[in-house]
Amino acid sequence: MSLRYVINFDTSKIESEIWDVVVIGSGIAGLYSAFNLDSNLKICILSKGALDKNNSYLAQGGIAAAMGEDDMPEYHFKDTVKAGAGHCNEEAVDILVREAPKDIEILCRIGTNFDRNPEGMLVTTREGGHGCFRVIHAHGDATGKEVVDSLLRACRNKENITIKENCFAIDMLVAEGRCAGLLIAEGTDFESTKKVLYCRSIICASGGIGQAYKNTTNSEVVTGDGISMAYRAGAVLSDMEFVQFHPTVFYQPTGKGSRFLISEAVRGEGGILLNINHRRFMKEYHEMGEVAPRDIVSRAIFSEMRKTGSDHVFLDITHKDAFYLRKRFPTIYSRCLKEGVDITRDYIPVYPVQHYFMGGIRTDMTGRTNIEGLYACGEAANTGVHGANRLASNSLLEGLVFGRRCAEDINTGIHKLKIEKRRFFNNLKSPGKSLNAAEARDEIKMQMDAYAGIERNGRDMEKALDYINSIAASLEEADLRSVSDIETLNIACIAALILKGAISRKKSCGSHYRTDSE
Ligand code: SIN
Repeated sequence: MSLRYVINFDTSKIESEIWDVVVIGSGIAGLYSAFNLDSNLKICILSKGALDKNNSYLAQGGIAAAMGEDDMPEYHFKDTVKAGAGHCNEEAVDILVREAPKDIEILCRIGTNFDRNPEGMLVTTREGGHGCFRVIHAHGDATGKEVVDSLLRACRNKENITIKENCFAIDMLVAEGRCAGLLIAEGTDFESTKKVLYCRSIICASGGIGQAYKNTTNSEVVTGDGISMAYRAGAVLSDMEFVQFHPTVFYQPTGKGSRFLISEAVRGEGGILLNINHRRFMKEYHEMGEVAPRDIVSRAIFSEMRKTGSDHVFLDITHKDAFYLRKRFPTIYSRCLKEGVDITRDYIPVYPVQHYFMGGIRTDMTGRTNIEGLYACGEAANTGVHGANRLASNSLLEGLVFGRRCAEDINTGIHKLKIEKRRFFNNLKSPGKSLNAAEARDEIKMQMDAYAGIERNGRDMEKALDYINSIAASLEEADLRSVSDIETLNIACIAALILKGAISRKKSCGSHYRTDSE
């Protein structure tokens, strides 16, 4: 992948705007970083689609934070590092677990309505890899929606923050190692709506890469755009081989689109896994059984499916009181019912699918990247906090803690960064060559599911990489005329980088499991 810009453009011929900070992404990391920026800064938040179309909004389980009487940040640290399979950046983990309670308190102050007991104390649940109950949640299983809605209200109350919906970030503009702005397409008419946003800093909080896979829990908009454009602009990426598969996703063998998650909290509250022959198996794989770290449960399910020749297993929570289940898991209950499964009476068919990305744009502990003025946080960033396998419910937390840290760093140093309305242009793309991007996207997704999944091996990954590189080369040459075309190129770039990372890491580690491990 050698392309610097994905389209031809000339900033001297298109409309421009000036902002202090442009935030790419309106999930929890983007909104919370914007909320924490100084009120005298002019901030623009870009949302690629509608505001309810990101992964944060879909998050069910909750946010991990050691706030209970029997819990301590040290225990949260230990569980995070253990789940991360020895690959975590311990400095980042230490920051994450110590600062977690402070950010939860800030959310409570701005009106986030977490679930509480009759005495008014926060209620916690347990998820995979956690040694105790420490996951805070809202409306049972709609935590992400509650947090996003409260942050949107808080950001809208600030006059210095503008939120633009349906704005697609195309490429970052960088000169002399410094981030100078962003090329975007605003609105629905891609051909006529290019704009350049000049700014002092960009916070890339654009989320993960889920749509590089056929089966994923991720929203349709999660196509790795931020990571891919940062890579084109010269940002260092790291840990690209570490892709997380959620063990229990509602089994849906056909159709496209994002798959429906059955929160790990269902297992945390007592749900058990049964193979197709209704036999419980998790204890044979790990002493923590159903609440073992996520990579281990996903592999165990994968192995049971193979042994029994099935493409799913079952999750059973029918032994719990029906009234309790409807109240505790209202989203899951009603969605499963729509699919013909009453979770109070029926086993839920589940299988593991792509869910989260541990790799991304490498940052330091303040969210800085190697490009001056470019920050990254949330799933797009690689702080090293998750290591080779993220501990459940640490993702929204990472978005909060490191999103705030980006803002704090920008607040102290931003006025040293000048805004320069310099000219950027690209005329290297030859017009006219068309392509079938939808077909290319489907091909890439199938390759990634087949060869960069729960189990991988060097030989198959080499073949998949050759194939994806050839798709990427034709995408690079083609005339990209829509958001969807550029997304497909971004997906191809991410897929190739995941495969490259996975090929060069010869030994299995956490979520990166090689059947030919050295
Ligand atoms: C879940 O509710 O199982 C997902 C939470 C997470 O991905 O951490």
